Amino acid sequence: MKKSVRLFIIVICLISTSPFKIYSQQEETIKFPNEWKFIPGDNPEYAKPDYDDSKWKSIRVDKIWEDQGYENLDRFAWYRVKVFIPSSLKEKAFLKDSLKIFLGKINNFDQSYINGKIFGINGKNVPSDTKIDTSFLNAPTNFWDYNRRYTLSVNDPRILWEKENVFAIRVFDQGGQGGIYTGDQTISMVKISEYLSLNYDQVQFQYKNGSIKKLLVLKNTSPKLTLAGEFTINAVSKLDGEIVSDKSYNVNLKPGAAKKINFSLAKQDHSNIVTYKFDFTKSKESISFSEETPYILTPPVSLKPQINGARIYGERTGKPFLYLIAASGARPMKFQAENLPEGLSLNKNSGIITGRVNQKGEYSVKLTAGNKYGKAQSYLKIIIGDQIELTPPMGWNSWNCWGLSVDQSKVFSSANEFINKKLSQHGWTYINIDDGWEVKGDSKDPKRDTNGNIIVNEKFPSMKALGDSIHALGLKFGIYSSPGPLTCGGYTASYQYELKDAESYSSWGIDYLKYDWCSYDNIAKDHSLPELKEPYYVMREALNKVDRDIVFSLCQYGMGDVWKWGAEVGGNLWRTTGDITDTWQSLSEIGFSQVENAKYAGPGHWNDPDMLIVGWVGWGPSLHPTRLTPDEQYTHISLWSLLSAPLLLGCDLERLDDFTLNLLTNDEVIALDQDALGKQAVPVIKRDSIQVWKKNLSDGNIAVGIFNLDSKSKKFTLDLKGLGLTKKSLIRDLWRQKNLGRFKDTFTADVPSHGVVLIKVFKG
Ligand code: GLA
Repeated sequence: MKKSVRLFIIVICLISTSPFKIYSQQEETIKFPNEWKFIPGDNPEYAKPDYDDSKWKSIRVDKIWEDQGYENLDRFAWYRVKVFIPSSLKEKAFLKDSLKIFLGKINNFDQSYINGKIFGINGKNVPSDTKIDTSFLNAPTNFWDYNRRYTLSVNDPRILWEKENVFAIRVFDQGGQGGIYTGDQTISMVKISEYLSLNYDQVQFQYKNGSIKKLLVLKNTSPKLTLAGEFTINAVSKLDGEIVSDKSYNVNLKPGAAKKINFSLAKQDHSNIVTYKFDFTKSKESISFSEETPYILTPPVSLKPQINGARIYGERTGKPFLYLIAASGARPMKFQAENLPEGLSLNKNSGIITGRVNQKGEYSVKLTAGNKYGKAQSYLKIIIGDQIELTPPMGWNSWNCWGLSVDQSKVFSSANEFINKKLSQHGWTYINIDDGWEVKGDSKDPKRDTNGNIIVNEKFPSMKALGDSIHALGLKFGIYSSPGPLTCGGYTASYQYELKDAESYSSWGIDYLKYDWCSYDNIAKDHSLPELKEPYYVMREALNKVDRDIVFSLCQYGMGDVWKWGAEVGGNLWRTTGDITDTWQSLSEIGFSQVENAKYAGPGHWNDPDMLIVGWVGWGPSLHPTRLTPDEQYTHISLWSLLSAPLLLGCDLERLDDFTLNLLTNDEVIALDQDALGKQAVPVIKRDSIQVWKKNLSDGNIAVGIFNLDSKSKKFTLDLKGLGLTKKSLIRDLWRQKNLGRFKDTFTADVPSHGVVLIKVFKG
């Protein structure tokens, strides 16, 4: 390997933190222009090469169409562009087999044409005689976050070599954001390295005997080429760049063959950067992949009892009450609750409190949890009155993992996993179904019965039974709908059936409703405040009529500064942004912009910067481990906790690994989110890519997150006086649950790139 190549790769590793791939050999690449022609609507003529699109408007293909003047466009639109494809592309290439057309991501569905002939649908190559219809919209998943990489054989008659080629892309946006949006669309020849697959980002490191391990599989995906070369694995410390491991293997992979390599590293309390590199002998091409290793900071849970979770809980007068005492420690465990309000009773073995309280009031309940290792006590303030959700909801929602492929068994298994993996012992409570449980809007099947009651699709045989079994575990049950006729996924929604639906929810035992704007755009006259508020008032009124407390979660992506009026329309939480995805860009743009809305959060009404993206996510039937690095995940959970944000997991709970569990079971971090004061953190310092966020806590102390948004790790000195701390203050590292000592004037910390140091500062 040439030294310069190695150097280049190491430099890139140090500045980039998300898993990534680099192709070292730059062959000729044709770049699509960034502006294409565009028209909303649908007409098969638009695919034809000689169609006259001169009157169409121009549009950029590096941002969603909503940001370019097409705000409410949730249907078909076409893009067209002309590109000259030179023969030199194939002449200069090492492999001369196939042409690659890379269109980036498209929100949501695409049918892609070249010179009037279809070549790709939703990311899959298709032959030119493929039947053209609208079945591409019925996919079980929604492809908004999926790169469209299409290939055509060089001899394919659809390509016009040495001529102008007309590309036409028929796009359908299901709701929310739409269009071709990632930019950097290219045409190039398929390289030899593209036939090598490495599963590094499909398997997580396992913790075993003081080390972390991963089974790597190198695979040759070509049916005819042999891949030969040198495979190297190099690991360096993320903090100081020191080499931790350096290995190399000679590899010769026959067509379709695979090679397995067991890779392990000693466990550490920071990330290492691992670079996997393959140098191809014949073509002199090389490819490298990189990732950061996980490290666990949360100390192991003690066998002794410990009562976790919020110290405050609200329910309305006379409504069904269900509360599971969140307590960690060995089982069997016995529970006691002294001074429970009249009407409530405790199951001493499970720790589940149920009943109804008819008397308004505040009750200080003494909880005890005991097992053979000891006893823990704690006070819970139960407030019976008008308010619920006195602390932000914590739970699971099906969307970020299963998308529209959610079904009853996946939901029930998530509830079971809350118990099996002991998440409920740390306060995780809600099990929420997102979109996809109703009958599809375009289905011939009835959507409602003759009385107007909504019909549940075949994937959910019994909502009532599902609700009962979730409640039997002490957990709560949530559901999803839209105020429009259809949900974002095109399923039946609540428009003009709001009360009927609230009654159905109540009969199933629903505790939480996410109400998603989407097709209400076709009902609302405009986005004026009265129009934005109206559907939420209507559903709130319906929910008030049923005999349950149902958390009301507004989802309309922050339109009209919803934080200013979300509480007025009866919302307990409201989405402040568009949909999150599992990238640093998405996480950091959303998380660090929650500033203006801070003063509107408080007990009973929370800003919702969207659900968590840790663990195995995917928005559809096939999932992948989150693309966030371990440090980015520490940032995610720390920031959301400082923000008093709802903590809704969006991952497959059956596949939780040790690292993710460590993120979700740190009681001192969760305590920030669940703090009874309900004050959202605010940024107090923004300097050189460091942001310091401060949160006031109910015990009079403060929590501070020092975040490093830079791609390099940094030392940062915090001015304690600037935080109003004049005396020597005890500082505690919350992830490590360790006191760091008493500090006056300053506190200095190493903050990993895209990572965080999360501390609690005790005043006085
Ligand atoms: C919208 C919401 C998501 C999810 C989907 C379901 O995009 O913002 O959170 O509920 O709809 O289709």
